[in-house]
Amino acid sequence: MTRVETVERALDLRRTVDAWRSNGSIGFVPTMGALHQGHERLIEQARHECSRVVVSIFVNPLQFDRADDLERYPRTLDADIDLCGRLGVDLVFVPTVHEMYPTPPACTVDPGPLAVALCGAHRPGHFRGVATVVLKLLHMVGADRAYFGEKDAQQLAIIRRLVADFNLPVAIVGVPTVREADGLAISSRNVHLSPDERRLAPALYRALCEARDQIAAGVVDPSVTKASALKRIPKDPGVRLEYLEIVNPEDMQPVERISGPVCVAGAMWVGATRLIDNVMYTP
Ligand code: PAJ
Repeated sequence: MTRVETVERALDLRRTVDAWRSNGSIGFVPTMGALHQGHERLIEQARHECSRVVVSIFVNPLQFDRADDLERYPRTLDADIDLCGRLGVDLVFVPTVHEMYPTPPACTVDPGPLAVALCGAHRPGHFRGVATVVLKLLHMVGADRAYFGEKDAQQLAIIRRLVADFNLPVAIVGVPTVREADGLAISSRNVHLSPDERRLAPALYRALCEARDQIAAGVVDPSVTKASALKRIPKDPGVRLEYLEIVNPEDMQPVERISGPVCVAGAMWVGATRLIDNVMYTP
């Protein structure tokens, strides 16, 4: 197997991608590595829809609100590069922190009201870090299409607004969440779960589905829906629900009455691991 080409420097990335540009479309999948089937799905879709596929692997310090989370974030670079090769990726961009932030950035992107609720309320500065690095990466790659998972619904909503508000010439493609057989959304952080925690983890998805079932059955009051969903969260000392909200999928604001499409989003701690997930309801 030929090893996929990797570059560390933005200049080399640009040179390679520029040479491809006249020969078809460029797809881009930004990641923080520790690649799993969720990332794979994004890459496969990009592969299917674009002539060339670029993947970036960069654990972005700017979006971590806790030093311990950044420190213990899983890093599996060699395996990630092998996987990219097997999936037919054309180029992997693996910048160093210095390449991305030669100096601490003076200008950052504030996603405004979209970052206020849900994860934004619990992870100060997180979405500023995400929006800033995604703007930089989109600019560096210059792709026609960029792929993001619906698993991170608030992130996806923010990136759509980023692209609209700054007139970025790229199409944002949302990709459905890839799950384990028991419903747990696949995530790089799942490797931290002990066997006992792993058994508790799918409760978040079950709670979200319970809320969605209630909405489908005609419940329009979010507090009634939430109360039923909370019954699905195990009363275990290792489990703590951080939030479960019913929000408008475009602006990510909690709705007062359910009418029209909504996103039911939740975050739950299992031991020292924070899990997030969401399900969409469209009438
Ligand atoms: P990361 O967590 O590595 O995720 C990279 C992409 O994979 C994101 O768009 C995410 O939504 C998607 N993804 C993760 N798990 C998924 C699953 N189970 N099903 C479908 N898609 C999934 O998200 C980030 O990195 C970073 O914030 C990033 C956008 C790269 C900016 O640093």
